[in-house]
Amino acid sequence: MKKVIFLLAILSSFAFGKNMWIYNIKTNLIDPNSNEVVGEIYEGTPVKLIKNQGELSLIEVKGVTSGADERFLVYKNDKNTNTPLSSFLKLNSGVAKNAQKYLVKSSDLVDREYPAWEEIELVYYDTCTSCHAGHHPAEHLMNEWDAYLSAMQYFAKINDEEKARILRFLESHAKDGFAKEEE
Ligand code: HEC
Repeated sequence: MKKVIFLLAILSSFAFGKNMWIYNIKTNLIDPNSNEVVGEIYEGTPVKLIKNQGELSLIEVKGVTSGADERFLVYKNDKNTNTPLSSFLKLNSGVAKNAQKYLVKSSDLVDREYPAWEEIELVYYDTCTSCHAGHHPAEHLMNEWDAYLSAMQYFAKINDEEKARILRFLESHAKDGFAKEEE
């Protein structure tokens, strides 16, 4: 019996993969069949490590197709407005689907969540505390942050790319976001 349980444990660890997080502002997504770059994936995104192949690792990414732009895979779409919340990845073309597999650089993966967010957390508090105290991301719901950030974009003098990066951080750490706080 013990043997069976041991075997099952091994099998399931293969079947489900290991939890990892993207550790870079963004990194290229490579199609495992064509070996071509097909898109990009963003920091803090939770992924399953299927197989480490040395310099590259095969990962699986879970999420839903964005209601606004089907090239994006997002955490979820807001039920009322169908607004996409927290982008995980963006393909150059086509439809981003749930549970697709890609190759990424192994050095752009980390096995704990907090280090994956550490840099953008600093950038956020740097950018957004010169006029008022920092607003903790968990003060608001995911679907509230876009409007606040849009209102503050001009004040904070950030471009659209910087705004998108900060928005990913705020939405994932919002009251109903998926990111867990740890030190
Ligand atoms: C140049 C100064 C300035 C900067 C930089 C700035 N803010 Fe603000 N912020 C304000 C002012 C002034 C208000 C209050 C007046 C208003 O609501 O327009 C405000 C209000 C807010 C509120 C609303 C608070 C509430 O409860 O109603 C949020 C949230 C916020 N800022 C977030 C941010 C974020 C996120 C950033 C960084 C991208 C940022 N702010 C950068 C000046 C700034």
